[in-house]
Amino acid sequence: MCKGLLGLADDTAYLVKYRIDMPQIISVGSGKGGVGKSFVTSNLGVLLARAGYSVVMADMDFGGADLHILFGRFKPKHTLTDFLNRDVDELQDVLLPIESCEGLSLLAGTGETLATANPAYATKQRLARHLRKLDADIVILDIGAGTNLHCLDFFLMADLHLLVTNPDPTAVFDAYKFIKLAAIRRVLSQFMSRSDIGRQLAKNDYHSVDEILQAAGENNPESRELAEAVLRDFYPMLIVNRVGQARGSFDALQLRTVLKRYVGSDLEMLGEVPEDDKVVASVRSYLPVCFDGSGSKAVGALQKIARAITSRMRKKAA
Ligand SMILES: Nc1ncnc2c1ncn2[C@@H]1O[C@H](COP(=O)(O)OP(=O)(O)OP(=O)(O)O)[C@@H](O)[C@H]1O
Ligand SMILES: [Mg+2]
Repeated sequence: MCKGLLGLADDTAYLVKYRIDMPQIISVGSGKGGVGKSFVTSNLGVLLARAGYSVVMADMDFGGADLHILFGRFKPKHTLTDFLNRDVDELQDVLLPIESCEGLSLLAGTGETLATANPAYATKQRLARHLRKLDADIVILDIGAGTNLHCLDFFLMADLHLLVTNPDPTAVFDAYKFIKLAAIRRVLSQFMSRSDIGRQLAKNDYHSVDEILQAAGENNPESRELAEAVLRDFYPMLIVNRVGQARGSFDALQLRTVLKRYVGSDLEMLGEVPEDDKVVASVRSYLPVCFDGSGSKAVGALQKIARAITSRMRKKAA
């Protein structure tokens, strides 16, 4: 293991504080597919484990799971299916250690059947409870692309929400839509356990965050205040991947302004990762580029992002 690679050697005090409680959960989502969520998950997993954290990467792309392939594990011995089918009681029992990287393990994905690809809400809640019980410092959730309820629910399970896009206008528009619907789902979930207003809000479909705030306010002013507080507390962090000559760049500030205005959530720019041929080569050799990233432009950018994440986690812990 290569401790201190990120200059994180001083973080142990923070770690002691967290290990007593539960792991920090980080979700990695996107509106559009293929923008680099699994690439980000696998490389952050390697970097954070090398920095001395105990890290679990969970493949939450039900039906499209492929995180194990990025580590050359073509036929994982255990997958989330064993847990969903109750063949095991604890998630810990289906963890696959990544032998080449001390401190890193994988929860391989599921979704080979209609039932496992489409879990009931109660199943998702059970999964969320067990993810919190994992004996780890950090759990990274690699989410499927798009705005179906599973993607939104898995994304919202986390403490830190990473939104990945590339600079293509289609990906940026989908990123906006994803965060807008995640915000609406977050408000709805907040009221789900309160049967009166929860039932009333669930009767309608909402085009905008404003609509759901109005509906909550019609119930009573406190409900609207609660919904607004839930949104203020939701500030996803943006990673723009594959920035470079072919795709160019894009103005993250514009997306931030639009989100602030129409969704009420702030968006923090976490970093940009350049387009890099070494990434493509690393995928073909079944090892994340950070394993041996000598000469890779992407690795430096990913290290910066990993550092920003750990400093953000410290702030939350304080
Ligand atoms: N920075 C980069 N430079 C060059 N190629 C990249 C970069 N990031 C990702 N790629 C390429 O894009 C492909 C798709 O990335 P990845 O599988 O991580 O996307 P995804 O968002 O997880 O896709 P899905 O939505 O299907 O789960 C990778 O296999 C890799 O070849
Ligand atoms: Mg993926």
